Amino acid sequence: MSGRLGTALVTGAAKGIGRGIVERLAQDGYRVIALDRLDAVHDVAASLRAAGFDVVSEVVDIRDRAAIAAIADRAAPLDVIVNNAAITSTHRFEELTEEHFREHFEINTVGTFVVAQEGARRMRNGGRIVNIASRSFAGAPQMAHYAASKTAVVGLTRAMAIDLSPRDIKVNAVAPGVVDTDMLHYMSEERQKVMLSLQLLGRIGQPEDIARAVSFLASPENTYITGQVLIVDGGRSLGQGQLPPEESPYA
Ligand SMILES: NC(=O)c1ccc[n+]([C@@H]2O[C@H](COP(=O)([O-])OP(=O)(O)OC[C@H]3O[C@@H](n4cnc5c(N)ncnc54)[C@H](O)[C@@H]3O)[C@@H](O)[C@H]2O)c1
Repeated sequence: MSGRLGTALVTGAAKGIGRGIVERLAQDGYRVIALDRLDAVHDVAASLRAAGFDVVSEVVDIRDRAAIAAIADRAAPLDVIVNNAAITSTHRFEELTEEHFREHFEINTVGTFVVAQEGARRMRNGGRIVNIASRSFAGAPQMAHYAASKTAVVGLTRAMAIDLSPRDIKVNAVAPGVVDTDMLHYMSEERQKVMLSLQLLGRIGQPEDIARAVSFLASPENTYITGQVLIVDGGRSLGQGQLPPEESPYA
């Protein structure tokens, strides 16, 4: 069974941005396979099924290649893969342990590679892959481990776009800025205030803001974009922060 637009597999779907992406792709008309290592992914799928959408869930760790392959076998052929699962933390560079560094690569980079590869093997020609990177690839304080793992996702995205182009599989990344999820709440309130002041559009992003961008890159409307990184950060990367009202021409 597959949705009007086919089958989409989404990782890290139990909460936050991943949950927003599952909701959006289900509304778009995909059958969605929602994956997470947390049992809460079943609640996400159950509530969407109750609303009439075609969503199934599986508890799995994205590092478990055999389990991912078995899930992809059952879901095949795939039309869309969204690699969203990841972890983060902050550590002063001098105190960052090699264990933390390796763990972030193991999940954020190798896990993304595993799902992308097993998924691509079972993807219809003409499919679309969206990897969730992070604006931190441009640099982020006390996040060398995370920023490096996400910068690797950008490189992976570009290389995959080249290697999968003979099959017309388009591969892109979305690089969110600060988004209101549990991942944000590891920051102190003070740091959250600073982050807010850096948002040109005056607000922190919501999961739906990211899901909209993913929806477009994953859709049949994306006919000619591959190997790109779409920064969805409310303009933060422009480096202006919020302008004082008197300097705004619209004040
Ligand atoms: N929230 C932000 O400010 C922000 C900013 C930039 C990028 N991102 C990226 O967006 C994506 C989603 O982040 P979020 O804010 O929703 O985070 P989150 O912590 O709320 O959700 C991440 C989900 O991934 C799952 N996950 C983690 N490791 C896993 C593994 N090994 N196997 C299976 N599932 C696993 C978690 O259980 C969780 O449900 C991540 O790739 C993150 O790096 C988030």
